[in-house]
Amino acid sequence: MRINAAQDLKAARAALAGAYDLAPSAAAARETAAEYARVARVIPEPDWMLHAPYIRAIKALKKERGAVILGHNYMTPEIFHGVSDFRGDSLALAIEAARTEAPVIVQCGVHFMAETSKILSPEKTVLIPDSRAGCSLASSITAKDIEGMRAQYPGAKVVSYVNTTAEVKAASDICCTSANAAQVVEAMPGDTVIMTPDGYLARNVARQVSKRVVWWEGACMVHERFTPEELRAYREADPDTAIIAHPECPPAVIDEADFSGSTADMINWVRREKPRKVVMVTECSMSDNVASELPETEFVRPCNICPHMKRITLENVLWSLHTMTEEVVVPEHLIAPAARAVQAMIDLGAKPTRH
Ligand code: 13P
Ligand code: SF4
Repeated sequence: MRINAAQDLKAARAALAGAYDLAPSAAAARETAAEYARVARVIPEPDWMLHAPYIRAIKALKKERGAVILGHNYMTPEIFHGVSDFRGDSLALAIEAARTEAPVIVQCGVHFMAETSKILSPEKTVLIPDSRAGCSLASSITAKDIEGMRAQYPGAKVVSYVNTTAEVKAASDICCTSANAAQVVEAMPGDTVIMTPDGYLARNVARQVSKRVVWWEGACMVHERFTPEELRAYREADPDTAIIAHPECPPAVIDEADFSGSTADMINWVRREKPRKVVMVTECSMSDNVASELPETEFVRPCNICPHMKRITLENVLWSLHTMTEEVVVPEHLIAPAARAVQAMIDLGAKPTRH
């Protein structure tokens, strides 16, 4: 039975209701008061009454199963602050997956992140609450395409973004994330470096490094939609507005920004600079996840949602732990070569940013 399949939803909900007390309740809200304190600015109390019973049940079940929950910065605040044991960008979550001693990892993020955890910890059970949580970048390229790029640029090293399948990682020389892409490219031998699959990230990195960078034309469906005109309009409306953008945005968008960095680097920039008003040019939930701790900052929300990230809900996190599904499986022959590419990146020593 799958909670994510429409035909099974009713039965799955009945099974959860039979096993846990999931009715909205003031008692559950009291028991989760510490979590609520972190999101009070963005989640109204009546909504928290609905979330609290799920959070209480997930916390108890997590202990029972020896599970750790890794929450990406794009998770909704009730998941990010309510149930995640570790929060961060792709790099930090990958490092945590390799480091944790917990036998079970629940990945609150998208499929490539769960695969990365499995690759780094093949002996662990890695669960993803909805295996359909994909990524427009990961689905834009195959291992065969990597071979095509190698044939086009003989001898050039292939740096693949972690937003790729295990098969593509295995075909690459090294991985990178948005937190360390320039550092990884600069560390490669040779004059030319192939970057896949994000064409915009590659263009942005090409402007920071001494190498010739060639790339695959994939794009993030969330970040490619931002435009420089949109950002200029925010600044014209209030010239004191700080603008910070994720490097998956087109270069013309990055040119309008005061800072560009990984999701964690963006959060830390706001913590450090404490702007009066800021536009975080990235997925919607990021602003919500930091708004509570920075009451003096006004967040303008140019809201582009990642439909893949939003497949993860408290309900399917609970279902995942209840049934120990959906388990992420990486074909045996891909694990070692994919781990080599991810580990090569981690060994370069870029500093991860956790929250
Ligand atoms: P980060 O590595 O910056 O967390 O980004 C992951 C991602 O999917 C951004 O769209
Ligand atoms: Fe992929 Fe973009 Fe969604 Fe990140 S925000 S998971 S890059 S589609």
